[in-house]
Amino acid sequence: MKILCLLGSPRINGNSSTMAHKFCDILKEKGAEIKYVELNKLNYRGCQACDACKKSYAHCVLKDDLAETLETAKESDVIVLASPIYFGEVTAQLKGFIDRTYSYIVPDYQEKIGKESISRLKPNTRFVMIISQKSGEEILAIDDIYPKYKTLFEMFLGIKEMLLIRGCNLVNEADAINNKELMKQIQLAAMEFIV
Ligand SMILES: Cc1cc2nc3c(=O)[nH]c(=O)nc-3n(C[C@H](O)[C@H](O)[C@H](O)COP(=O)(O)O)c2cc1C
Repeated sequence: MKILCLLGSPRINGNSSTMAHKFCDILKEKGAEIKYVELNKLNYRGCQACDACKKSYAHCVLKDDLAETLETAKESDVIVLASPIYFGEVTAQLKGFIDRTYSYIVPDYQEKIGKESISRLKPNTRFVMIISQKSGEEILAIDDIYPKYKTLFEMFLGIKEMLLIRGCNLVNEADAINNKELMKQIQLAAMEFIV
């Protein structure tokens, strides 16, 4: 089983990264092959709305550091999206990747939606969203990005399963690793995750 883990925080030893590693380490013990990508180290642009992926090509035509990762995602069984919440969203680094997944949607998708698959991802690709945030359990509506992305990924990328792992009250880089309850919760979620 191939797992692509996208790290969206600029803090490479920060909370979302720690949480993602904790989750993926267990999956690795279960035999999964993990590829980590530190998005902040790559140079890439957001989607240019050129529609080349709908007209002439079955992939994104931008030739930048994200090109390889976009191809790796197509061959992956599980894609882990790890990010802190920044102003009620994932970081710009992860949002840049998400916008480029527009290239996974087939041409004429508006006519095909709801009738046939419109995604270029593998049919049973699963997503795991790992979120770290400063706000507490009483999650502010603006920070609750999971339902929105779940709906969009189901609708346009054909995702049937998307797991959420959320860490609250995380401010300093080591807060997640020092939160034994959170680490246990992630361990259990990973053990229950079928590889
Ligand atoms: C620019 C910026 C914006 C932020 N916006 C939010 C926010 O809207 N809601 C929130 O709960 N935390 C917010 N935070 C706090 C981070 O989400 C939180 O500290 C997180 O645990 C950091 O994760 P990391 O260690 O993986 O980078 C923000 C932090 C920064 C730097």
